[in-house]
Amino acid sequence: MTTEEQPARDEPTGAETPADGGPADPAERHRPVMLRRCLDLLAPALAEPGATVVDCTLGLGGHSEALLSTFPAARLVGLDRDREALRLAGERLAPYAGRATLVHAVYDELPQVLDRLGVPRVQGVLFDLGVSSMQLDEAERGFAYAQDAPLDMRMDQTRGPSAADVLNTYPPGELVRVLRAYGEEKQARRIVEAVVREREREPFSHSARLVELIRDALPQAAKRTGGNPAKRTFQALRIEVNGELDVLERAVPSAVDALAVGGRIAVLSYHSLEDRLVKRVLSAGARNTAPPGLPVVPEQYQPRLKLLTRGAEVPTEDEIAENRRAAPARLRGAERIREAHTP
Ligand SMILES: C[S@@+](CC[C@H](N)C(=O)[O-])C[C@H]1O[C@@H](n2cnc3c(N)ncnc32)[C@H](O)[C@@H]1O
Repeated sequence: MTTEEQPARDEPTGAETPADGGPADPAERHRPVMLRRCLDLLAPALAEPGATVVDCTLGLGGHSEALLSTFPAARLVGLDRDREALRLAGERLAPYAGRATLVHAVYDELPQVLDRLGVPRVQGVLFDLGVSSMQLDEAERGFAYAQDAPLDMRMDQTRGPSAADVLNTYPPGELVRVLRAYGEEKQARRIVEAVVREREREPFSHSARLVELIRDALPQAAKRTGGNPAKRTFQALRIEVNGELDVLERAVPSAVDALAVGGRIAVLSYHSLEDRLVKRVLSAGARNTAPPGLPVVPEQYQPRLKLLTRGAEVPTEDEIAENRRAAPARLRGAERIREAHTP
């Protein structure tokens, strides 16, 4: 997969008006989630001159802007798989162009990106997972079930199958697996039976038809719980289309590997599947791996991470009141405390 370095651009900001007619300035369109806490978690690692912090999910550059302004000696590498996000973040971060390098990449490509930039180790890594406000707000991207739009959902619109391709071409058993595994949808079989019946009549292209089909397919009791009945199916399709969990499963261990001793990682997840995966990787790094019964734990079995959060931290009620997209957030952090890891 190719990547493309681009400095943060020196162009004026706010050239575009989003499709929903909302504010054009990225700063107004998006409040970075749990920002203060993310900065505090990373702070001890970023004060030294020459520190590098990687924002693996640049989005609209909200967290990145705060990192660059709070840590004036730090350099930032920002990744996003969405070219439109890179463009908007580039405008926002233009004042920091000398200290920021933005790269079009999927975040599991982090080792290769750092290699090409000649940065062997970094002091901070941030992941703010999921979709950005821009992706949700722009109806034609097809992430939101509330508006009728093409069933796309690709974060990188230059490659890969869309949500419509998944719906129209996957064998029924595969679709059931996707809905169950990534949407935790108990009614997966019912929904898939309806999808298969309908797609034979006419392939799916837009979201409203799918939302209506889900509504009709679900029993009354299932419709009364858990908000919009299409929510779980949309989440599942988005995760499948973007290979989100597979990528994350590779990316978090790579990010930990990239940390210098004393370096810190912070991860914001938005659903239990992501959070479980992050918890598993960070907790495993914080355990010693010695065979049971050793009187003294040798260095190579000592944990290489120290957890910085007790369980997952959540946003305050005030933050949720101001920014409803923060509501599901779960934040975990860890510090790299040792080079050695299990052979
Ligand atoms: C929640 S937004 C980040 C918002 C950002 N923290 C801010 O304050 O503006 C997540 C971003 O991560 C990007 N993204 C999601 N999965 C990715 C992946 N596997 N590799 C690279 N970028 C990814 C999305 O395209 C989106 O722009």
